[in-house]
Amino acid sequence: MKKPIIIALDFDTEQAALSLLEQVDPGLCRVKIGKELFTACGPQFVHRVVKEGFDVFLDLKFHDIPNTVSAAVMRAADLGVWMINLHASGGLGMMEQARQSLERVGEERPLLIAVTVLTSLVKQDLVAIGLNCEPQDQVLRLADLARKARLDGVVCSATETAFLRHETGQDFLLVTPGIRRPEDASGDQRRVTGPAEAMANGSDFLVVGRPITRASSPRQALQDFITATSG
Ligand code: C5P
Repeated sequence: MKKPIIIALDFDTEQAALSLLEQVDPGLCRVKIGKELFTACGPQFVHRVVKEGFDVFLDLKFHDIPNTVSAAVMRAADLGVWMINLHASGGLGMMEQARQSLERVGEERPLLIAVTVLTSLVKQDLVAIGLNCEPQDQVLRLADLARKARLDGVVCSATETAFLRHETGQDFLLVTPGIRRPEDASGDQRRVTGPAEAMANGSDFLVVGRPITRASSPRQALQDFITATSG
């Protein structure tokens, strides 16, 4: 089973995260641990979630010199996580070195994906940091660079999925947040896409937070998302 749903564990305590994990089956979903939960609970907690049987996407978005990033991804691999990410804007050398280090882990290595342009940035923000281009052009440039570094894929917004899938071909993972069913509140997400549409546009994995974690029944909400993506 492909298990396309990755639940974002955006919690500030171990207890809150564990209470959600008790309600969902690791055979049906994967989970994402980001900077908040990692900073609050540490690597031991990541290891514990892995031990519970969950595939963990460790969303720490590494961005540093190649030596530091490749060492950090190896420590993430030690924790047994399923997927790790870094910023493609750290450059080709940084991405290549991280990927080469992970290859030493062997077949069981975590997947390594890149963040291209944060979806919180608009054209004006790119200009202010010296990038005089449309966000979409920069997304494509960095996705191409990630492919050249032989990374496994990129995180992308659902609005970028269709054109990225067209540009990158099939053997490149597209991991997409900003997913909502019609009945879900969009929260702070400005552009949202339904689960079926995101899959149809070429996403491989959907990152879903609040529509599942804040649902009255997370188990039922997860089942709804699974049904919507398996059509
Ligand atoms: O609650 P919600 O479904 O909006 O959670 C989405 C998750 O995906 C959060 O962990 C958020 O940080 C992450 N994310 C995002 N947009 C991006 C990249 C990551 O919402 N462009």
